[in-house]
Amino acid sequence: MIILGINAYHANASAAIVADGKLVAAAEEERFNRVKYAAGLPVHAIQYCLAEAGIPLTKVDHFAIPRNPWARMTTKLWYAVRMPKFAMERAQVMARFSGLKEELAAAFELDPQSIRAPFHRIEHHVAHLASTYFVSPFDHAAVLSVDGLGDFASAMWATGEGNDLRPYGATTFPHSLGMYYTALTQYLGFWKFGDEYKVMGLGAYGTPRFLDEFRKIVRADSGMKLRLNLNYFTHQLQGPEMTWRDAGTTPVLGRLFSAYLEKRLGPTRKADEPVEQRHRDLAASMQAALEEVLLKHVSELAERTKEKSLCLAGGVAFNCVANGKMLERTPFEKIYVQPAAGDAGLSVGAAFSVEHSILGRPRSFVMEHAGWGPSYSHAEIAEAVRQRIPNSDGIEIDEMDEDPLAQAAAREIADGHILGWYQGRAEWGPRALGNRSIVADPRRAEMKDILNQRIKHREMFRPFAPSILEEATGEYFECTHPSPFMTFAYSVRPEKRSVIPAPTHVDGTARLQTVSRRTNRLYWKLIRAFGDLTGVPVVINTSFNDNEPIVCKPEEALDCFLRTRMDTLVMGNLILRRNAPSPANEGGAEVSTRRTP
Ligand SMILES: [Fe+2]
Repeated sequence: MIILGINAYHANASAAIVADGKLVAAAEEERFNRVKYAAGLPVHAIQYCLAEAGIPLTKVDHFAIPRNPWARMTTKLWYAVRMPKFAMERAQVMARFSGLKEELAAAFELDPQSIRAPFHRIEHHVAHLASTYFVSPFDHAAVLSVDGLGDFASAMWATGEGNDLRPYGATTFPHSLGMYYTALTQYLGFWKFGDEYKVMGLGAYGTPRFLDEFRKIVRADSGMKLRLNLNYFTHQLQGPEMTWRDAGTTPVLGRLFSAYLEKRLGPTRKADEPVEQRHRDLAASMQAALEEVLLKHVSELAERTKEKSLCLAGGVAFNCVANGKMLERTPFEKIYVQPAAGDAGLSVGAAFSVEHSILGRPRSFVMEHAGWGPSYSHAEIAEAVRQRIPNSDGIEIDEMDEDPLAQAAAREIADGHILGWYQGRAEWGPRALGNRSIVADPRRAEMKDILNQRIKHREMFRPFAPSILEEATGEYFECTHPSPFMTFAYSVRPEKRSVIPAPTHVDGTARLQTVSRRTNRLYWKLIRAFGDLTGVPVVINTSFNDNEPIVCKPEEALDCFLRTRMDTLVMGNLILRRNAPSPANEGGAEVSTRRTP
């Protein structure tokens, strides 16, 4: 039984394939077409998933689409009358969905008649709920999805028991915690799609002195009601305005906040203006209000369901600071957030929704790691190195077995070098988790600035995250709940803050990844080897990229290595080291190479 999930014509387009109840492959289109948050039909991601499953498109048994035009039809019709422009845009999107079979056939050069499998429409938030509960380790749990908007809802909650997922409530348009966060992100001068996490980082530098005002903007009423004060917003008037650049692949969201919000909070920060203390305090206040509302909502969910385990999804589930506090301040003892908690995860959710809710098949899969993307053999990696580095002057290249390779790489990190670490299958979701990562020494306070100057070029207020051996979590952090997908922020133990200053955020927290030997063996070995050398089983882990989607193919990793001032690159069983110290390599281009025996 093969089910293909497709998140199309929506930001974070993705595909996922489930065979006999188990996930075989999942990937975002951006990793292939190299357009961040790419929308459209994810043809490359579908091709990849089919190749991984070893079947042609015509052998798919069910297609799972995470959008249902018939969901909340009464509400949609009511708003269609009031917002004809928005209704027209929705109708155009729906028309594309109704022609999906034909577009797929055209993309794969097939006769549409040869695609016989049924297309199942799964409501957006039902797919979000399924994307986390059905792949969680829990036999039963409370389940919550919170985002901006999808199929006219912005949140939904459910109980899961076995293969029975039962939604029993939702927050509908125009009320939305995701819209709240995005609107305030825009107000603070961050307009790019997906910039919300920057503001979360900024908030740690401020004090929430505007919290009372923010409590007037958003609240959680009893009865599981998330509410916005619509005076502060505009999306309820004409609908959120989404346009697309770059041939329909890059989403651009129109302004969501009103003139009234500016009147109350002061002038908006323009994108090119400096970030001042007032902005930091506003970001802190906005985050504090989100936490109050979300924690109240989650606590009420715990009270209603009496469950001790929670599965989270939707874009708001990436708020690792709030997630960490849920473990401290709500009755939930275990929380599962899968790595693609946002809309990319909808393809996985839709596929598992068909598997369990429509076909009624039992559960037999847990997503324990994020390695669901493409991988390349040692031979393919070696060929890419030969192609990209044809001469041998300036870079030493050595081939090593696994253990010496981990030890050599750990030595590089301990020596203060910046290491590219490229192994196995590409990660599913926006975080590099030890397969396409840039790794550095957490003990050096200056490493954050060095990473920014030489490779990442990010805003200075954004923290870098640590990866830690799972078994050492309690030694360094005040919470030991697993965080394998970097979706929780915990307080670093006060006595350890000076030991790992580089990934410790200004508020004493860190958004950590706990690394398990069982599910990420090679990365675990690298951190273990670093721990053996230094006594600190922690490394800085940031995504392997430079203002682009995370590298996928070996060639992209090599290009990033050659273009930036990374010192060392480990790919498969090869280690590439610049002969000249990289600070001298100011431009980071023009590297001649020499191959060692
Ligand atoms: Fe969503």
